[in-house]
Amino acid sequence: MKREFEGKSVIITGAASGIGKAAAHRFSNEGAKVCIADMDIERAEKVSQEINANGGTTFATKVDVAAQADNDRMVAETVKKFGKLDIAYLNAGYYGPGTDIFSDDITAFDRIIAINLRGVFLGIHSVAKAITEGGAIVVTGSTGGILGLANNPAYSASKHGLIGLIRSSVEPLSTKRVRINAILPGGVNTPLNFGEMVDTYYPPDELKPVPFRGYGESQHIAEFALFLASPRAAFINGGAHVIDGGLTSSFAAVRYEKAD
Ligand SMILES: NC(=O)c1ccc[n+]([C@@H]2O[C@H](COP(=O)([O-])OP(=O)(O)OC[C@H]3O[C@@H](n4cnc5c(N)ncnc54)[C@H](O)[C@@H]3O)[C@@H](O)[C@H]2O)c1
Repeated sequence: MKREFEGKSVIITGAASGIGKAAAHRFSNEGAKVCIADMDIERAEKVSQEINANGGTTFATKVDVAAQADNDRMVAETVKKFGKLDIAYLNAGYYGPGTDIFSDDITAFDRIIAINLRGVFLGIHSVAKAITEGGAIVVTGSTGGILGLANNPAYSASKHGLIGLIRSSVEPLSTKRVRINAILPGGVNTPLNFGEMVDTYYPPDELKPVPFRGYGESQHIAEFALFLASPRAAFINGGAHVIDGGLTSSFAAVRYEKAD
């Protein structure tokens, strides 16, 4: 049977770890050729080698998504190696050390916006020019993009902004038959939250159910990214899709306490 992404060329940013890494494995399992793009080139190389050892076709490239030249180079390398570009999963993101509105560390705010918002804009900008046969862009937002985060307003603002960015991209991208959607995950078991994690890759129908409000696994998010990028999602465009195990469906009081 032909695999769903056979013959497709895919870029995934933040693919050295967590959600991006799980997506790299899954797109590759489904036949795609994958550019493993990440700032952490050692880990990106390791992911690429693992996948290639299992019969996949990938290469790793070092990219800081906050730099326009890096985004352009990532896209140019992918087109050179795979002959074209069909799909981009712009997933790289940074939570940073959370700093609240009282903090004088304004550079922390700037860095988060530079990666999570400006970086995604630069990614869309570079990728959109290169997709010539129609395709899809998927972006990782966050439930922090529809909720306030008292301890990290920069992260919340960057992920809110990202929703406006993808909605504003729908019409221009449609002229190239490219759809764009955002996934807004709730808590996911990745190094972003927990430091190191154990890798697990399952056939989709063996993915474990997550208890209400529990932490999902990277692959729960990756499976949805695959769906959004596939022709099965042909009528889904400009959406901000919450994938959170029920987190945002019921109110839970979280106290913000500031020491004097
Ligand atoms: N883990 C969660 O609970 C959660 C929840 C909601 C949204 N997200 C979002 O999911 C995405 C993936 O995060 P994750 O949880 O897999 O975390 P992760 O830390 O496991 O992976 C993030 C990857 O992005 C890379 N990266 C960071 N800054 C970069 C930059 N400037 N250029 C290139 N690569 C860069 C890191 O090196 C890392 O490999 C992020 O956008 C994050 O904001 C995560």
